[in-house]
Amino acid sequence: MEYGIEHLTMAIFTDKRDLTLAAAGAEAIQAFDHVMDGYLSMAPDTGDRLKGVFAADPDMAMAHCLKAYFMMLMAMGGLMPKAQQAATKARELADNASPREQMHARAAGLWTARNMEGAARVWEEILLDHPRDILAARLAHFANFYSGDARRLRDSVNRIMPAWDAGVPGYSYLKGMQAFGFEESGDYARAQAAAETAIELEPMDPWATHAFAHVMEMQDRQDDGLAWIDRLRPHWTQANNFQNHIWWHEALMMMDQGRMDDVMAQYDAHVAAPESEEYLDICNAVSLLQRLEIMGLDVGGRWAPLAAKVQARTEEHILTFVDLHYALALAAVGDGKVHEMREFMAAYEGPEDDSNLPIMKALGVPLVDALIAYREGRYGDVADAMIPVRYEMWMMGGSHAQRDLFNLILIDATRKSGNAGLTRALLSERRAVMPHDDWTGKAFSEFSAVS
Ligand SMILES: [Fe+2]
Repeated sequence: MEYGIEHLTMAIFTDKRDLTLAAAGAEAIQAFDHVMDGYLSMAPDTGDRLKGVFAADPDMAMAHCLKAYFMMLMAMGGLMPKAQQAATKARELADNASPREQMHARAAGLWTARNMEGAARVWEEILLDHPRDILAARLAHFANFYSGDARRLRDSVNRIMPAWDAGVPGYSYLKGMQAFGFEESGDYARAQAAAETAIELEPMDPWATHAFAHVMEMQDRQDDGLAWIDRLRPHWTQANNFQNHIWWHEALMMMDQGRMDDVMAQYDAHVAAPESEEYLDICNAVSLLQRLEIMGLDVGGRWAPLAAKVQARTEEHILTFVDLHYALALAAVGDGKVHEMREFMAAYEGPEDDSNLPIMKALGVPLVDALIAYREGRYGDVADAMIPVRYEMWMMGGSHAQRDLFNLILIDATRKSGNAGLTRALLSERRAVMPHDDWTGKAFSEFSAVS
């Protein structure tokens, strides 16, 4: 079977899920399967594994797609030109590959041109004909996560599930994704069951481990969540920097239990990630530090290294969710840089089909105004900026647990502004869904006693 005649050395093979791949030889296919295993299990050497594919076949279209995809997954402005080059190369080489591979090359082109929504549509289209294309499924999962729409996250995986069973390599990873889709949609029983199946089949699945942690966090089940994370620690600590996000979840559960000294220790040991420039590591750190401050702890000089990491990243505008975390770090050090970032965000026009652009306008700018007001002690302005968009915040993407940070900022600002009615209302609604949460209980009691 041939898709083109220009490169007569290019032959058609199949990967471990029987998807056709154009490559120079079986060695490249083996290396491709190996890098996919690394991607799905979040192995630290996934980048090196990709180099192995290029060593076996420098002209494999899907290898160039993967290169572009991996760079885009880093959400780092400095990597975008290289990601675009990889996508362009993939498009050229895909002429001799299958229609599915050509669609991947198209998706890589769209994503590297900032149109993640367009790329997600292509991945979902691929999955209609190739429901075992776990790369398309995983990337759609990422895009759906940052679209904020939990229904998309849930449905995307469930649409392809009938084509899978435990005999298909990678099934456990799909169950982990299914767990997270159910969890973000509020279907905690199905989410828990799917995560348990995933981990039974493959304990080294940080994403499924993490999906279960979310199920526990959302149900205020800290003891169960902490026990789960602890039991699987030998596995998920083998993962790449994503393990820092699981340490973050563990810290969040300790915080829910009021163990603030443990949280601070965990921050220093596993969440601050001083050497890392990865966006998720920075978001974890900002998010935990801000929570600690809201809960009355003195975090000392811990903001400065975070602000230093992001001060050259004020014009990236890749994900509004991420930009807002960067802005929090900049606002905390108070050197004026956050105002510059706010102006960049407000003025940014981007390409017309930049998926992040409408979110930046609708949410990013009002929320960055709120965060600046919060740091400057203009607490009344925080509520003015946040209340109108409060129920639209899901649109910035991220998880419910991550976005909860913005609810906490709003509550803290309203109580400091002396708005008794709104503070009581916000604490009451929080207490209803987190009845065991230490800080919420205390804040509600203290507030009720003085007002
Ligand atoms: Fe998470």
